[in-house]
Amino acid sequence: MVGFRPCHMSGFSIAALCRPELAELSAYLPDLQRYRVRLDANEAPPIMSAAAQSRIAQALGEGPWERYPDPSLAALRAAIATNLGVSPAEVLPGVGSDEVISLLLTAFVRPLPPGDVATVLTTTPSFVMYRMSARCRGLRVLEVPLDASWDLSVDALKSAIRMTPPSVVFIASPNNPTGNTMSRERLEQLFTAAPQSLFVVDEAYIAYSDRDQLDLYRRYDNVCILRTLSKVGFAAFRLGFLLARPEVVAELDKVRLPYNVPTPTQRVAELAFTELAPEVERIAREVVSERTRVAARLGELAGVQVTPSQANFLWVRTERPAGELYEALKARSILVRSFHARGGRLNHQLRITIGTPAENDQLCVALSELT
Ligand SMILES: Cc1ncc(COP(=O)(O)O)c(C=O)c1O
Repeated sequence: MVGFRPCHMSGFSIAALCRPELAELSAYLPDLQRYRVRLDANEAPPIMSAAAQSRIAQALGEGPWERYPDPSLAALRAAIATNLGVSPAEVLPGVGSDEVISLLLTAFVRPLPPGDVATVLTTTPSFVMYRMSARCRGLRVLEVPLDASWDLSVDALKSAIRMTPPSVVFIASPNNPTGNTMSRERLEQLFTAAPQSLFVVDEAYIAYSDRDQLDLYRRYDNVCILRTLSKVGFAAFRLGFLLARPEVVAELDKVRLPYNVPTPTQRVAELAFTELAPEVERIAREVVSERTRVAARLGELAGVQVTPSQANFLWVRTERPAGELYEALKARSILVRSFHARGGRLNHQLRITIGTPAENDQLCVALSELT
């Protein structure tokens, strides 16, 4: 390893340059060790057909690689728009939903009167990137706990809105890590309670859910929908997108980096919304049928309760502390997600991604011996 020579410029301190909020954050570095069974990241299991894989390989072999990607993302926008029955001007693709979240927070967050601090509102527990991305930008984040059924606490959210009107509100439905959808009636109450805020309904897991909120997007001006290909078999390509009013998309296009989505990703994502759309649906159907099987099997174990899931993972309550189970599963080379570090009611919850039938069986056997 190359060492640094002592620096001549005394008085230089990186800590003095950093945003103070960085002190409370750490880099997102998932456990990269090799595990026999990885059910921690809510990816789809590797069940893509050989025909779909070779179609992707063919699209990736076509070049030309010396040219920048299409900066307007025209073909991909058109493919998504046709698939969802909207206009291309309503679609903003990004490098995963993560990038779209950061673009939203770059473009739209400023103090709303009578508040004097730019504020983002979300729920807890929910997807961590809302908070991380906002804190990196020095924004204030209000996190309102979900109720006992992991649904929206409308009164608490409304009082947060009254105290400090948020510029952007993130609500995941189905929610990560709880797997349930938020009730529509409560969503609508919030949309009307904060007409000046932009609501982002994050539907990352929509392929596994009985119904989406596209009709609410059409009915409420202040609502947009976030989606991704990461959960249905294309995580390696990093493609997420926002569905929003053209005037919202036009502002986000100003802060988007010119060539954000690489050509291979644009091409493969376009296939996912056209030729390979039936393949995506098949993957989702298989995962949902495995979800039913695994939920029933885990539900039979003493000391285990499974929240009904509308996603590709299960939110499992265990009598034994989740931290202990997480470590015991890891010792058997099975990786799941535990949130015990956050304490409180999360001390007894595990999030378990639905894997292949063989992986799911190994998980069920291990949990039956450990709980
Ligand atoms: C609710 C939710 N939104 C967004 C994402 C991120 O998706 P992407 O891979 O498209 O950045 C995740 C990933 O876990 C998620 O759970």
